[in-house]
Amino acid sequence: MRNQTQEYYEKLTRLSNRSDTHALLEQLDARIALGRAGAQPHLMRANLLRRCGDLRSARAAFVDHLNAVGAEDVLEAFDPEAVIPPGLRSPGNHVISPILVIDDFLPVDEMNALHRHACDLEPQFFDARTFSETAVYDPAKRRTLVNPQFTYKRQYFLDFLDANLERFQRALGLPKFKVDRVEIKLTNHIEGGFFKPHADNHGPVASAGRAITWLYYFAQVPVRFTGGELSVLDTDLGRQEISPSWFTKVAAIPNRLVVFPSWFYHAVGPTHLAEHHFAGGRFAVSSHVRKLADTSHWATP
Ligand SMILES: [Fe+2]
Repeated sequence: MRNQTQEYYEKLTRLSNRSDTHALLEQLDARIALGRAGAQPHLMRANLLRRCGDLRSARAAFVDHLNAVGAEDVLEAFDPEAVIPPGLRSPGNHVISPILVIDDFLPVDEMNALHRHACDLEPQFFDARTFSETAVYDPAKRRTLVNPQFTYKRQYFLDFLDANLERFQRALGLPKFKVDRVEIKLTNHIEGGFFKPHADNHGPVASAGRAITWLYYFAQVPVRFTGGELSVLDTDLGRQEISPSWFTKVAAIPNRLVVFPSWFYHAVGPTHLAEHHFAGGRFAVSSHVRKLADTSHWATP
């Protein structure tokens, strides 16, 4: 990893420091308690909470914000398992990626069976290329092991996605597109694994390409790795710029499913694994739903 990338990750870690955040939250709570602060402190609370990975509290703060601004339609459409609704911006005017997070997604014995299956397939994992267009392995941008050839629960995930496609489109504020195909593979980040900030799609919404990125995290329990958190970065979609300071941190907790639109920049933080064992790594089922070209536009951002 280059020094510049290392420094970027260190900045994200500083920004998501819980004790600093706690002090800021106390100040905001004091303003809210006075009763005349309006909606802004609720939105700021939500931003601070999502940045340090407290997703449940962040959702509650977003609900408070939507109530304070009277956004009844957004509240009504706010999926019970979404952390962030579509259509919000952070300071600096970057769009906040809507995100769904579903914890305890599989029965634990099935998650464990998926982990055993992935470990059995260890010899078939290889170093992921950075971008599909150039298909080069660039360890300065990414260190991820990947294996597209898994079978256990593969169809279950695809069926779940199929059954929930309209729900995800609605929750993420995406147009109702038709699916071209679904890419699905296993990934594992072991010692030194990371994936620097990138978007899975840079094209217009109407073009064919990746539209929904989803990840299902699984691992050996108790967890052997540290780090490897997903940061979904607030993005200026038109300029292809990321916010210098606002993002949502999603810990790679085993048995957690995460879903967000493929156009938002995101990064996998450095992963550490003391024993260097493949089995102890940060595993994911990693998938992209690709849409067909159409005439849709993206109303929300
Ligand atoms: Fe990605």
